[in-house]
Amino acid sequence: MKIIIVKDPIDGGKQGLKRFQKAKANGAKVFGLATGSTPITTYKEICKSDLDFSDDVSINLDEYVGLSADNPQSYHYYMQEHLFSYKPFKHSYIPDGTNLNTENEIKRYNQIIADNPIDLQLLGLGRNGHIGFNEPGTPFDSKTNRIKLTQSTIDANARFFDNENEVPKEAYSMGIGLIMKAKHILLEAYGKQKAQAVKAMVEGPITTDVPASVLQNHPDVTIILDKLAASLLEKK
Ligand code: GLP
Repeated sequence: MKIIIVKDPIDGGKQGLKRFQKAKANGAKVFGLATGSTPITTYKEICKSDLDFSDDVSINLDEYVGLSADNPQSYHYYMQEHLFSYKPFKHSYIPDGTNLNTENEIKRYNQIIADNPIDLQLLGLGRNGHIGFNEPGTPFDSKTNRIKLTQSTIDANARFFDNENEVPKEAYSMGIGLIMKAKHILLEAYGKQKAQAVKAMVEGPITTDVPASVLQNHPDVTIILDKLAASLLEKK
């Protein structure tokens, strides 16, 4: 794991852009994308840059079950707002939260990922160590799955909704086994509320209790942290 400690998320965004530029320069064509507040500065930098994805494919990690693309809280909407309206891709894939036929949606998304091996996967980190929406306990070899969100994730994400009752209780997520197949992984985490999960991810045992700890097994992971998120790490 290569760890880069930055001053703040704005600086982190600049480092994030560099990883995207490097991947593009090395011929990357398929980008795994993330949502949440963390990657916003990286997307801002990408939007200001001259990167062109019009010949590339994007595959998002996850989507809330039940939310349609025109719902401002959906990850479809988020991606449009923060990236795609400025930097369109040839094809952009996101799980379809309105497809309540779970088996069918899982099969569809697994096929998309099988057809488009991911070159660079961007990740955030849940306060409980989740990646995508893969909550603690998710098997490391999982493919796309429909996941019941834990109370801690519902609480953490309630800030994006009018009230906690509006937070969907389930999501479709690219599984851990698929995330691990990406050629390069870039994870960003900022703020002291992530410090415990960062420590467990980097210095703790590899365990499904902390889904992100599986990244210790990946050969090419870059982690961008601000000082607060890195504050509990023993080896700086
Ligand atoms: C959500 C998303 C994750 C994200 C996490 C952290 O649960 N499914 O992909 O990494 O939240 O979000 P934030 O970046 O807002 O802290």
